[in-house]
Amino acid sequence: MARGVAATGRDWAAVFTRGAVGSARVQLEQLTKRYGDLVAVDALSLDIAPGEFLTLLGPSGSGKTTTLMMLAGFEYPTTGRIAIDGSDVTFRPPHKRDIGVVFQSYALFPHLTVFDNIAFPLSVRGYGKEEIRTRVEAALELVQLGGQGRRMPRQLSGGMQQRVALARAIVFGPRLLLMDEPLGALDRKLRESMQLEIKRIQQSLGTTVLYVTHDQDEALTMSDRIAVMNHGRIVQIGTAAELYERPADEFVAGFLGECNFLPGTVQAFDAASRQAHVGLANGTIVAAPVANGVVPAGAVTLGVRPERCLIREGPGPDAPLIGRVQQVAYLGDAVKLYVAVEGGAETVVVKQLNREGLRVPQRGEVVHIGWASADARLFPRAVAAERSRPLAATPATGERVDHGV
Ligand SMILES: Nc1ncnc2c1ncn2[C@@H]1O[C@H](COP(=O)(O)OP(=O)(O)OP(=O)(O)O)[C@@H](O)[C@H]1O
Ligand SMILES: [Mg+2]
Repeated sequence: MARGVAATGRDWAAVFTRGAVGSARVQLEQLTKRYGDLVAVDALSLDIAPGEFLTLLGPSGSGKTTTLMMLAGFEYPTTGRIAIDGSDVTFRPPHKRDIGVVFQSYALFPHLTVFDNIAFPLSVRGYGKEEIRTRVEAALELVQLGGQGRRMPRQLSGGMQQRVALARAIVFGPRLLLMDEPLGALDRKLRESMQLEIKRIQQSLGTTVLYVTHDQDEALTMSDRIAVMNHGRIVQIGTAAELYERPADEFVAGFLGECNFLPGTVQAFDAASRQAHVGLANGTIVAAPVANGVVPAGAVTLGVRPERCLIREGPGPDAPLIGRVQQVAYLGDAVKLYVAVEGGAETVVVKQLNREGLRVPQRGEVVHIGWASADARLFPRAVAAERSRPLAATPATGERVDHGV
């Protein structure tokens, strides 16, 4: 299927971009934004390929919106440079950048019909009446609101208003679309269907998208690449699978998905197999692959994801931890066990798919926990301050257990 031709067979890109190449290359170079003493964005560099869907993912206050605002032209950087298709736009005003923007609040004009809302960016650009009608009707069709142009925003559901905002952002054929938490106000089901819809529209138009969210599932579903941000910087950038399977550090491992973190000390390193032998707090020694250029020496944190943990009936070399089940959380599609591990202060979370015949241990039962050594990740032991994982579902505090899950 050629780019621009959606499943309906209509060439949407031809309607909105008049055959011009519909996607921009974006380069952010050493972008810094200071507000007084506060560094909101810290020497951030990013290269977005034409037609790429790139997501900034990070906790509250990590600098996502500020980055987007600088690219849109609503904020100017303190230092650094922004280029779109090779031209420097760092200090160009927003309306001269031809970027479509969708914010978290739909920001529709309440006194204008749906049609006039979507027509607005065309009117200000001086498009003729006939061209406006063609484009607005096509945009309505693309967001599956065909025939709804005469309604007022207040007569629409949240998801419909969101789609109007999207139609308004794409109707003038921008080569770059910025979206800041556009689905934040929607319920889960609507969010999920809008995620697929935005992706479908982006694929049929070929537009480059920079998307902002703090919802990891949304980032995983939609993105070609994800940039994980913390404290104004990009901590790691890559595909969803790269970030999930090979997180650069504890922050990424804990932010993208859930992860158990066990303190340990490297006892030996086998250069041939590139495996480290790590002593855990309870005295057992486990093997773990060495990657990400981690120097296999001294204090480390071993990370293992809950769904990679296995429950064993008895002790064994593949079940190095022993502990007592503190809480069993029934999630429907899976069961989560919170296990207080002997010989360490850690609570380990084990997640098992809820299959026919699954034996779920009871609260208070003693279990043995293991994992395939290939599923373990080693991180240099983080300093105390960096270990705070604001939004990560970390089991380490035991708080969720005490309050019942
Ligand atoms: N206009 C401003 N004046 C002063 N500080 C600001 C301003 N805008 C943002 N900040 C600060 O910059 C930092 C980054 O804010 P930003 O809005 O970019 O975060 P964010 O990642 O979008 O967070 P959220 O997920 O909560 O939307 C925060 O500490 C914020 O308080
Ligand atoms: Mg924000």
